[in-house]
Amino acid sequence: MGRSAAVILAAGKGTRMGSQVHKQYLELLGKPMLYYAIKAFETSTIDDIILVTGPGETDYCQKEIVERFGFSKVKAVTKGGKERYHSVYEGLKAVSDCDYVLIHDGARPCITGEIIEDAIKGAMKHKACVVGMPVKDTIKISDENEYAHITPDRTRLWQIQTPQAFEYELVFNAYKKLLSSESFQEGITDDAMVVETMTREKVKLIRGDYTNIKVTTPEDMEIAEVLLNRIYGKK
Ligand code: CTP
Ligand code: MG
Repeated sequence: MGRSAAVILAAGKGTRMGSQVHKQYLELLGKPMLYYAIKAFETSTIDDIILVTGPGETDYCQKEIVERFGFSKVKAVTKGGKERYHSVYEGLKAVSDCDYVLIHDGARPCITGEIIEDAIKGAMKHKACVVGMPVKDTIKISDENEYAHITPDRTRLWQIQTPQAFEYELVFNAYKKLLSSESFQEGITDDAMVVETMTREKVKLIRGDYTNIKVTTPEDMEIAEVLLNRIYGKK
């Protein structure tokens, strides 16, 4: 089987949300957003959880989230960095003794146990896999003046979510390489890109769910509450 860990990212500033409190700590159905992602992993077959937070937020997370809700799988609360990939690397460094690792955005509270188990199985089978969904809308690449430039074949476009799941050594080495060469760091937005760029391993796309949204802008808060009510039942 092999031991598995989850790195849950919560070191972002939530700029697009535009609230004073970083979005991962805003309340959804009376609990901080970050609670839900941890809860889903806590009740899954994952062995360990590493939480990555902003530099001044580790104490708050430890006391007001980990201890308050009794999350026993959280083995470390560690500080993230400037970009998402810095935070991921800090999280990966804090993982110990695991064969597989799932990297998950703390801003995706509507993650379900089913998606987590599919991602673990995917990592075991393919070494590297990411959860995503085929896009529903037509996607256009614009030119520099915002005129339609290219319309890629929609049947092969996927919107990528998290978890992104890997053999631990594979993704850790890929990140180590990325962090040692600044020239590759431009435009890195997910973990699959790091493995695609830094290794020869192919990354398998597996289906998640359209409801596994990333809470990014204020209207996503309302959508997330509706979805969380569906997952956890109306309280
Ligand atoms: N993240 C992180 N460290 C960073 C940047 C982002 O741990 N330096 C985390 C966020 O907390 C979030 C996830 O990565 O859970 C996805 O990032 P995103 O949705 O972009 O969140 P923010 O960067 O916080 O938001 P924004 O881009 O609007 O500032
Ligand atoms: Mg961001």
